[in-house]
Amino acid sequence: MLIRRPADLASSEITPRGLFERRRTFIKAAGLGSIAGAAALLGLEAGNAMAGSKLAGVRKSPFSIDEKATPFKDVTSYNNYYEFGTDKYSPAHEAHRLKTRPWTVSIEGLVRKPRSLGIEDILRLAPLEERIYRMRCVEGWSMVIPWVGFPLAALLKQVEPLGSAKFVEFQTLSDPQSMPGVKSPVLDWPYLEGLRLDEAMHPLTIMAVGLYGEELPNQNGAPLRLVVPWKYGFKGAKSIVKIRFADRAPGTAWMKAAPQEYGFYSNVNPGVDHPRWSQATERRIGEFLKRKTLMFNGYGEQVAQLYAGMDLKKFY
Ligand code: MTE
Repeated sequence: MLIRRPADLASSEITPRGLFERRRTFIKAAGLGSIAGAAALLGLEAGNAMAGSKLAGVRKSPFSIDEKATPFKDVTSYNNYYEFGTDKYSPAHEAHRLKTRPWTVSIEGLVRKPRSLGIEDILRLAPLEERIYRMRCVEGWSMVIPWVGFPLAALLKQVEPLGSAKFVEFQTLSDPQSMPGVKSPVLDWPYLEGLRLDEAMHPLTIMAVGLYGEELPNQNGAPLRLVVPWKYGFKGAKSIVKIRFADRAPGTAWMKAAPQEYGFYSNVNPGVDHPRWSQATERRIGEFLKRKTLMFNGYGEQVAQLYAGMDLKKFY
C-alpha cells in the first residue's frame, strides 16, 4: 500500500477531525434552529442516506468478539478510501460528496439468475446483526469495529451461482463527479477485490451497512461494503456497485498496483512479512504498546480449514 509510515503511528496523531468538527457545528446549528444549514453541513442533501441514522431491529451475533471497541470517532475519521484521497483524514472530509441513494448493485457472471437489486431490497434480505470484529490493516494498525450487516451468503444466494463459479469479484463505485481521488492514477479504477467462493459464503463474511448501530458513514463505505475479518482490511471493498461470479481468480486493484507486494488471499499472517515491513505486530488504534498479530487475525478456529494443505507463504 502506498504509505509513508507503516506501523509507526502514535495515537496522539489520530486527531478526531472531519465528521466530528461537522457534528459539533451541526449540534450548534440545530440549537440555533437552523436545521437546513445543519443538514447541509452533514452532507444530508437529497441523494444521501441519513448519515448517523439508527438502524432498527439489529440483533447481537455470537460471532462478535469480546474486546473493547475502538471509539466511533477513530473508526470514522481515520480511513483508507483512496477515491477520496490517499491520506487518512481526507475521506472524512470529502466523502459527504458521495450520493448513496438511489443505489443499485448488479450481480452477474456465472449465475442462473443475474439480478440488479436496489439498496432498499438488499436491506430486507436478512436480519441485520451487530458483528464486533477485530480488523487488521496491512499497514500495521488495527481496530475493533462494531459493524452492522448480514451474511454475504444471503445476497449471493439470490442469483443462484452456477457450479462453474469458483470466485467472486467486487467492483466499487468510480465516479469522477463525487470522488476527487479517481482523477489520480494511484490505482487502476474502479477498485476491485475478490474472494474464493467458499470464503465469500463463509458465515464470518458480511456485507456491512452500518457501524455502532447507525447507517455506515460515507467514509466507511456507504451504503454497503464487504467485511472479511481474517483478511487484511483492503479486502473490504467499499461502496460496492457490482458483484461478478467467475471461474478464475479476479485481478484485484492492489495486485495490479503492486503485484510483488499483494497476493490474492491476503490472509492476516504474522509469519509472512510485507516486503517493506514486518507483519508480526500491530498497533491497536488508541493503545500505546504494540500487540502481537494473530494468525488469521484470531479467527483461525473458524477459517483455517478453508486453507488446509495450502502453503500460506506461497499463497499469501
Ligand atoms: N474500498 C475502496 N473502494 N477504496 C479504498 O481505497 N481501501 C481499503 C478498504 N476498502 C479502500 C476500500 C483499505 S486499504 C482498508 S484498510 C479499508 O477499506 C479501510 O476501511 P475503514 O476506513 O472503514 O476502516
